[in-house]
Formats: sequence, structure tokens, C-alpha cells
Amino acid sequence: MNFKGKNVIVTGAAKGIGRAIVLGYARLGANVVAIDILEKELEKTVRDASEYNTKIKGICISVSDEEAIRKAVRDSVEEFEQIHVLVNNAGIYPGNNFITQKTEEWKRIIDINILGTMYPTQEILPHMIENGYGRIINLGSVAGEYGLDAFVDYSMTKGAVISFTKALSKLVGDKGITVNCVSPGTINTISENTLLDERTTLKRFGTPDELANAVMFLSSDEASYITGQNLLVDGGRRST
Ligand SMILES: NC(=O)c1ccc[n+]([C@@H]2O[C@H](COP(=O)([O-])OP(=O)(O)OC[C@H]3O[C@@H](n4cnc5c(N)ncnc54)[C@H](O)[C@@H]3O)[C@@H](O)[C@H]2O)c1
Repeated sequence: MNFKGKNVIVTGAAKGIGRAIVLGYARLGANVVAIDILEKELEKTVRDASEYNTKIKGICISVSDEEAIRKAVRDSVEEFEQIHVLVNNAGIYPGNNFITQKTEEWKRIIDINILGTMYPTQEILPHMIENGYGRIINLGSVAGEYGLDAFVDYSMTKGAVISFTKALSKLVGDKGITVNCVSPGTINTISENTLLDERTTLKRFGTPDELANAVMFLSSDEASYITGQNLLVDGGRRST
């Protein structure tokens, strides 16, 4: 895969899977706009990705701030002229007991995981349509595919992201734009250690780089005939 001359926007870019995605694109030659709320961590990701000698720009805002995220997308288009790839990775997964949960908690997770995916997507679409080219990758989850009882609200938001991906891919398929979802199983974003996970066929957690590889593939020119898919990157998870 080669992303030389390609410009990419990644949300939730400061740490975890998003950081691996930013570093992965930079390594393969892309310029990246990295969006996150964590200022210090974002600065570090931008600094580290810049070592690959492409242009990396950090923007510290929340994807749930509609005005700010739409402006960030517009500014990126103006600065880079063409945005080829949008990766909607920002997401939260606090874990809660649905039966006793407060409405405010639902609103927060819906704002970030669902609306925070829809705002930048809607803002970039006219630009991608004009160019006749675009790759949109959304981060789903095994929770959205199977449902996890300790993450009921989260499962709902990720189910929405998966359906959004499928529906949108049909809307823009004849405009040169592909829309796909990558759904992680359990990824160890905390340490470098390989943690065991008996729920999976591979008997271990995944790494952020293993996720980033799937995201990059689906957004590459090599994946030109793949759209509307939800790719589970879960080590062959067999139970919840
Ligand atoms: N790690 C896993 O096992 C796993 C499993 C399934 C799905 N996912 C999904 O993958 C994505 C990345 O997860 P992760 O494990 O790397 O999480 P993480 O918490 O390690 O990193 C998420 C990043 O998103 C940023 N973020 C959170 N809210 C934001 C907001 N409102 N605006 C902008 N940025 C925001 C955080 O600051 C952080 O940098 C999420 O969408 C998550 O739901 C992760």
C-alpha cells in the first residue's frame, strides 16, 4: 500500500488505535490531519508522525462540537486542497449498567459515537463527490455486531455506526466513494504486552497496529471494489 500524495483526516487520533492509524498513514506517505480532545497526547502523536516527513497537523477539538468539527473539515479541505480519506475513529466506551443508567450518559455517548461520526462525514461528502473520489472508514465494534451486556448503550451506538456505513455506501457508491467499517474485538491499547484472550480463536488481544492495518487497507486503492462492509478484526472472537 502506498499513500504518497494522499491527505487523510483521522478523529480520535491522540492515543490508542487512532494514534496507530495516524502513524501508519504517515509511514506510508500520507499527510494527516489528526483530531482529538487530548492536547498533550495529540501533540506527541503529531510529533512522532512528523518523523516520517509528511505534513501532520493536529486540531484539538471534540467531534461532538458540531461547529468546530465541521470547520476543521472545511479548513482541512482548504489547506490540503483534496482530502482523500476520512477515518471516524473517535469513540468512548465507558461501560455501564443500562438498567440504572442516567439519560445524560446516553446523550454523551450518542453525541460522540454517532453524531461525532455523522458531522465530519456529511461535511466532507460534497468535496469527495466533487472530486469523484473518497474513502470513508468508520470504527464499529464487536459490540455493535453481537451486543455486549456490560456495554448496552455503547453496543447501540456501534450498531448505528455499522448501519450508517452500509446505508451511506449505497448513497454514494456511484460517486467514486467507498464507505466501510472496521470493527475491533478487544485491542490492548494500554501496554505493549501481549495479553491472553481465551474468547478468541487466536487466544490473544489485538494490537493497535493490527487494527490500523485493516483501516489502511480498506482506504487504499487496492480495496477499490470493497464497500458497505463491516470487517471484524477480532482474532476470531467466539463468545462475548
Ligand atoms: N480498544 C478496543 O478494544 C476497541 C474495541 C472495539 C471498538 N473500539 C473502537 O475503536 C475506536 C478507538 O478506540 P481506542 O480503544 O483506541 O480508544 P482510546 O480511548 O484508547 O482512544 C480514543 C481516542 O479518541 C479520543 N476521543 C474521545 N472522545 C473524543 C471526542 N469527543 N472528540 C475527539 N476525540 C475524542 C480520545 O481522547 C482518544 O485519544 C473507538 O471508536 C472505539 O469504540 C475499540
